[in-house]
Amino acid sequence: MTAQRFSDFLNVLNVHRERLVSTTMAEMFDANPDRFLGFSLCLDSLVFDYSKNRIDRNSFEALIDMARSLEIESLRDAMFRGDIVNTTENRAALHVALRGSVSQDVEVDGKNVAEAIDSVLKRMRKFSSVVRNGFYTVTGGKILDVVNIGIGGSHTGPAMAARALDPFCDGPKLHFVSNVDGADLSSVLGSINPQTTLFIIASKTFTTAETMMNANTARKWLAENVGEENVGKHFAALSTNQSDTRKFGIDDERCFEFWDWVGGRYSLWSAIGLSLMIGIGPDRFDEMLSGAKTADRHFAEEPLEKNIPVIMALLGIWYRNIWNCSSHAILPYDHRLAGLPCWLQQLDMESNGKSIDRSGNPVDYDTAPVVFGEPGTNGQHAFYQLLHQGTNFVPCDFLLAANAQGEMFEHQMALAANCLAQSEALMRGKDEETVIAELVAGGMSKDQAKSLAPHKVFSGNRPSNTILYERLEPRTLGMILALYEHKAFVQGAIWNVNSFDQWGVELGKQLAADIEPSLKSGDDSEAANSSTACLIRAFAKFRE
Ligand code: F6P
Repeated sequence: MTAQRFSDFLNVLNVHRERLVSTTMAEMFDANPDRFLGFSLCLDSLVFDYSKNRIDRNSFEALIDMARSLEIESLRDAMFRGDIVNTTENRAALHVALRGSVSQDVEVDGKNVAEAIDSVLKRMRKFSSVVRNGFYTVTGGKILDVVNIGIGGSHTGPAMAARALDPFCDGPKLHFVSNVDGADLSSVLGSINPQTTLFIIASKTFTTAETMMNANTARKWLAENVGEENVGKHFAALSTNQSDTRKFGIDDERCFEFWDWVGGRYSLWSAIGLSLMIGIGPDRFDEMLSGAKTADRHFAEEPLEKNIPVIMALLGIWYRNIWNCSSHAILPYDHRLAGLPCWLQQLDMESNGKSIDRSGNPVDYDTAPVVFGEPGTNGQHAFYQLLHQGTNFVPCDFLLAANAQGEMFEHQMALAANCLAQSEALMRGKDEETVIAELVAGGMSKDQAKSLAPHKVFSGNRPSNTILYERLEPRTLGMILALYEHKAFVQGAIWNVNSFDQWGVELGKQLAADIEPSLKSGDDSEAANSSTACLIRAFAKFRE
């Protein structure tokens, strides 16, 4: 029997769409007042409400059947076993091992994974404690500022988590520099004292152009300020490439290793988390790992129909491939999660923004949507107009903490009310009759009301998930992030793409290396076309 493919299920799912296309979610709630109970799940201190989706029991079961037929469970088990799931790079994807979620005897290249992780974690704990306690001294004494220099997965994870866990950050002040744009580094350099700063160069490869340029500039700045002979102690490195960290002049004792089986966008849990660990302390870092482990266990053990990341993934596929939604909004009503949409952009779009399947053939269906978002209520005053009245609906994830750290009661109630109101408004909408009645009640003539009404109608029936959690603590954050990682995994497995490579970022890097000399010299003769040539010339002219 030939293996089943995702496209084999599109017809069946489309039949469900046809059946549901004229049924509203509001009608489904009316028909089943207990709908929430049937379409929600709890994990630890987190509630996942997916009842405001355009699904009924039959379509939900069809999605689950598809996941089962496409052998999601065995693909998942293969990842947890350390099999080579990243086939184009011939690597395992064992980020789950970083939170202790794989068997103790998993080996890669003859080395025990759990032992390797434990030994680096111990060194990270020791180093971060020493830095936090002020016992690691540099030119000006104890470390007061820590600057993480990295990009992509070597930046967004720790930067997002440091912001999310800011109330728990009681160590040196954390800064993050990623962009090759000098504005990024210079604004941080302008705010710190070189004598009391530790730079952490976070780069899996230690060859990424932006990171190396920022690292070299920081090194020069330090040498000018503390003397070349003192520079070394102001640096630590997080990398898989120890020969280059040595060449940069960073002692092995301050080089924290990770491995090629940790993908950049899955690396927060590895040595890449060192800046965060220095900020929040090793115990809280452990709590974050333990939250992620809870999500791992849930993903690995719960049946598909009770499995939060599986359901998140299937709903995403339902909207992407059956309802043609090309974007997905991440809407944290928790200001500290402001970095989450950006982290998820890399996670989802770098993992699953692919059009070639695992066997090297073009896919004949859509894959990852565009992920975007802003914290509530800021987004409401920017793009929610489109969410409510745009021509296409955009599936949304709302995230809400019941308790805020350092809460201001009135603010938290207003924030939460807005969150619940938005998902309700998206679902319920407002029909023309109601709009006219409201306008007339407000004193408008019936004719005027009728002509204005179409602009004020909300079609409704726009789906969303809500993730409600007790409080944004390290453990909760770990759980939320790991759930999204597993969601991306399931989607990649169903779309049959390799979620762990990112060849799509290479071409731009190559061309930038070709173009940079022309920009420096102003000579456009090597430019590939008239657009690039003229832009090089105009750029040179503006710089005269
Ligand atoms: O953007 C491509 C990418 O390879 C990401 O996957 C990665 O997170 C980022 O660059 C940074 O890479 P590195 O950690 O090797 O500097």
